[in-house]
Amino acid sequence: MTQKITAAITAVGGYVPEDLLTNADLEKLVDTNDEWIRTRTGISERRIQKGIDQATSDLCVPAILELCKKRGIDPAEIDCIVVGTVTPDMLFPSTANLICEKVGAVNAWGFDLLAACCGFLYSLTTGAALIESGRYKKVVVVGADKMSSIVDYSDRSTCILFGDGAGAVLLEPTKNGFGVLDSILKSDGSGKIHLHMKAGGSLRPPSYETVANKEHFIYQEGQPVYKFAVTRMADVSEELLKRNNLTGEDIAFLVPHQANKRIIDATANRMGLSEDKVMINIQHLGNTTAATIPLCLWQWEDRLKSGDLLVLAAFGGGFTWGATLVKWGN
Ligand code: UT7
Repeated sequence: MTQKITAAITAVGGYVPEDLLTNADLEKLVDTNDEWIRTRTGISERRIQKGIDQATSDLCVPAILELCKKRGIDPAEIDCIVVGTVTPDMLFPSTANLICEKVGAVNAWGFDLLAACCGFLYSLTTGAALIESGRYKKVVVVGADKMSSIVDYSDRSTCILFGDGAGAVLLEPTKNGFGVLDSILKSDGSGKIHLHMKAGGSLRPPSYETVANKEHFIYQEGQPVYKFAVTRMADVSEELLKRNNLTGEDIAFLVPHQANKRIIDATANRMGLSEDKVMINIQHLGNTTAATIPLCLWQWEDRLKSGDLLVLAAFGGGFTWGATLVKWGN
């Protein structure tokens, strides 16, 4: 019997800007302190993209070029680029469309996928389905956000959390059982009251009033989001393990969305995982929204062995949440 096609991750790329925004820097902007930020979130510093002409696509380009170099392919071989982001360069054309041109992916099509902090997980499942269909051979999935473009640096409850970055993976077909094996993705739009951007869409187009009211920035009610995140990220990760007859012992690494170290710890505890089996880079990068999970894969790549089982888990605006099971290797 022929084994079914799955989407293996055959290369990883990443990029974070050089400029640092430390807790000490934030102390100069708002009424906060290093100790509060570190104990409540686990964050010490974040990377911020500077430069007047720089946008999310410019974070993605080096990540994708790195991935192509590692795999030894020309960007012209890419069939499709899926970009999970809430900070597209423009409302249209899509960031994916702009990236295709910038990297020389002249034979690719692509699109942006908006699922906030679940942007990478939703995009990965979508990209994997394109590969599983048998129709596409090289799909690049990117999670990228220039969060500094939508952060209000006078709001101490949100400006301490976010950073900029991009991570990308290359998906290719295999019949050896590697890659994206299962995924449980959820969505509940009633959560929007707790985490959203008020204006800039068709509901409330930009105006002098929306700008004056600071409605083009992230609005987050931290506590309710925290409560939902803790339970739902852990619930869905546990459900994924059960559905695949696995326990925490079978998992080499949990790759969690990096929103708050305390949320990560709670998810790891529910899965029975010790801290050495959890990818955590929030201390240095903060919350890069759709980029957190692929940036973890990028930074941990050297420690991953063929056959390792990974659980990727996220929770974010919408609400959106989910978990994906990946078998490393190809
Ligand atoms: O990635 C997308 C999904 N997002 C998340 O998962 C984020 C979930 N939420 C969180 O991670 C946490 O709720 C935060 C880190 C955002 C906030 O932490 P918290 O422990 O929930 O703090 P809080 O909002 O309950 O605020 C506690 C106190 C308040 O003061 P009072 O009312 O007790 O006097 C805040 O005004 O801390 C104050 N506070 C701050 N103090 C110093 C809020 N922000 C700051 C700050 N520095 N930056």
